[in-house]
Amino acid sequence: MTTQQRLVRTLLAKGALPPEWHDAVASVDRALFIPEVFEGGDFAEDAEGWLRQVYSDQPVVTQVNDGKQTPDGAFRLFTSSSSMPSIMLEMLALLDVNEGHSVLEVGTGTGYNAAWLSHRLGDTKVTSVEIDEKVLIRATENLKQAGYRPRTVLGNGRDGHRRRVPYDRVICTCTMREVPRMWLEQCPDGRIVTPWGSSFFSGSYATLDVRGGEARGAFSGYPAFMWDRTRRAGAGRISEIYHEEKGSESVTDIAPQNVIQDDPAFFTSLCVTDVSYRWCDAHDSSTEATLWFFADDRKSWATVEYAPDREMYEVEQYGPRALWDEVRAAFLRWHDLGKPGRSRFGLSVDGDGQRVWLDDPHHVVGQP
Ligand SMILES: C[S@@+](CC[C@H](N)C(=O)[O-])C[C@H]1O[C@@H](n2cnc3c(N)ncnc32)[C@H](O)[C@@H]1O
Repeated sequence: MTTQQRLVRTLLAKGALPPEWHDAVASVDRALFIPEVFEGGDFAEDAEGWLRQVYSDQPVVTQVNDGKQTPDGAFRLFTSSSSMPSIMLEMLALLDVNEGHSVLEVGTGTGYNAAWLSHRLGDTKVTSVEIDEKVLIRATENLKQAGYRPRTVLGNGRDGHRRRVPYDRVICTCTMREVPRMWLEQCPDGRIVTPWGSSFFSGSYATLDVRGGEARGAFSGYPAFMWDRTRRAGAGRISEIYHEEKGSESVTDIAPQNVIQDDPAFFTSLCVTDVSYRWCDAHDSSTEATLWFFADDRKSWATVEYAPDREMYEVEQYGPRALWDEVRAAFLRWHDLGKPGRSRFGLSVDGDGQRVWLDDPHHVVGQP
């Protein structure tokens, strides 16, 4: 079965389709929002495969490298997509959107999420901002074809869209490093949901309630969204950054896998905001591995070598910054705080910026 009904059944079987969204999901045909050719699908070559992917609970990547010509073999950064339907529904549940609400969406993408919102709330209640003109034009056409006409706007979603304020809800479908104050101004008495984080760990939703000029809320989930285009993390292949230079060598007694578990990685991401990591298995019969760290500006890198049954691990650090030392300091601070889980942290945003706190808004532990 390669129809919208297949997707509905899959979502129901997963327990991922809340009753209030059932009609929208069943009524809006995802195929109308997906181009004939996408990353890993080509309708002309394999129509059945194309339909299978479109009607499965999977993301469909519709643009790489901002739509620029990408030579064969070049790194492919995913820059626009139709998000995974169950993830969209998870976000919409966090948003707690109800009939009568006016919603601002940031990141129109294919328009599929805007169509769900329009179906449930009505076109006049939905505004969607997209930064990429070609993506926006295509999404607006997709929406029309499906019978929806929400307001679609070209712009940087960080600025929101003044002409339809106030909004009751803001939903952002790209990852933000900080919650723009403009959203608080334009949604002064409502809720904001956005993927949030820094280069080190970006897999959290921030769900914030806005009252009296302040947004406050908690972190949850493990979303993997594309970055806000204006504040991306570094990306690329290791071979583009590492050219066999020699760094300074040392050892550490911290097992490298421990620093990239979700809770310490979340905390480290508050302190070390512009560094990403990659775990690379040795690809031989051993269980050895290398944990790489890269600064977004590509000027510094570090490695920690993992081997089983070791008590000390070899470290190498290159460039103007000692990235392992920075990560290690954050990890030790997390230990000193009693190794708190992410669910104990909260986020506050107001005219002074954003603050991450532990247990109590007065116990600020980071201002990423
Ligand atoms: C995961 S896709 C959105 C999926 C979309 N909601 C859907 O239903 O198909 C993320 C989108 O956010 C857009 N984007 C990234 N940064 C943005 C920004 N600062 N303002 C507006 N849109 C942005 C990207 O161009 C991309 O199309």
